[in-house]
Amino acid sequence: MTEIIKINPTSPEPALIERAAEYIKQGKLVAFPTETVYGLGADAFNADAALNVFKAKNRPPDNPLIVHISSMQQLGMVAIGIPANLEKLAEKVWPGPITFILKKSERVPYAVTGNMDTVAVRMPAHPIALALIEKSGPIAAPSANLSTKPSPTTASHVINDLNGRIDAIIDGGNAFFGVESTIISLIGKPVLLRPGPFTVEELESLFGKVTIPEEVRIASQSEKALAPGMKYRHYAPDTPLFVVYNCMEEVVKELDMLHISYSIICSNETAAELGKTSHAILLGSRSNMYEIAKNLFSALRSIDDLKSKFCLIEAFDERGIGLAVMNRIKKASSLSGIYSKAGIDAIFSSIGSTPA
Ligand code: TXA
Ligand code: MG
Repeated sequence: MTEIIKINPTSPEPALIERAAEYIKQGKLVAFPTETVYGLGADAFNADAALNVFKAKNRPPDNPLIVHISSMQQLGMVAIGIPANLEKLAEKVWPGPITFILKKSERVPYAVTGNMDTVAVRMPAHPIALALIEKSGPIAAPSANLSTKPSPTTASHVINDLNGRIDAIIDGGNAFFGVESTIISLIGKPVLLRPGPFTVEELESLFGKVTIPEEVRIASQSEKALAPGMKYRHYAPDTPLFVVYNCMEEVVKELDMLHISYSIICSNETAAELGKTSHAILLGSRSNMYEIAKNLFSALRSIDDLKSKFCLIEAFDERGIGLAVMNRIKKASSLSGIYSKAGIDAIFSSIGSTPA
């Protein structure tokens, strides 16, 4: 049985936080909201609890968890060899959607770090998460989805994936950003491992030059991975998904002429241009990429319900949070992108059917 605990996201009820923190301290698993996505929390110093997180999610054991803290004092409990300037910089970005890779302290078990000597640490900017961690101590938490599914941005996503598999789920409403935190390695020169809401532009204003490996932009479901978790299949619906670059109108025209049925995920503007406002899954206005980011994972989760043969998704500019949005879209999609109506042939060959 999974207990659902509804907590006020702006002023969390202390008694309810206390109860959830007690569960964490007892080694139980509690899903909780953060400003990025929901996390599946366990005591960061309890190896057995961490192993249960992997079991509940069907997560491969070499894909390490992020340790969530609520104070700089807790940073010293989980990491060692902290770069001299980090505390000053961290004060500017924490609490917030950015995760640092540092050397792990002895107290953090290898079960949490996937057997690595490094640890991912972040201080989430969510009143429920902060209040919970303050009471329980550091919490190891991956996103609270089943492995390969999109990260949950609402409690109902968590319930769909993990009900009956974990001890409790805190329902604190919608996550604010809707994509997972930016990950930056500070082992050596700063390297971006995962783009997120904290943008490259913002990172560089604090850290100077940040290396952005090619894999971050290509973002295929390839074996070559930066963060260990990035090599696994992610976000992908069962329905084949194709990213369409600047040619949605001609592709859609062609498909409609051939009387092919399919679904579309796109911005409000594109849907209006196509005359498909009532058929498309809308991500919001493309003039506000934060809105697009916030709605993306819900949209990806809803594709399979439509039972269509395939789905098209609009490509966005890779600037600001757009880099994170496109990284997740590419990981969810089946093929390299569609760049013109000639790309339709690739769709047909990949889904194994012809237009006739
Ligand atoms: O926004 C977020 O980061 C959310 C919320 C819950 O905080 N968490 C999240 O966790 O997205 P998860 O487990 O889904 O993604 C963590 C990523 C994985 O790709 C993992 O491989 C990487 O962080 N990671 C964790 N520890 C690492 C380490 N020591 N070195 C490199 N990558 C690491
Ligand atoms: Mg995840």
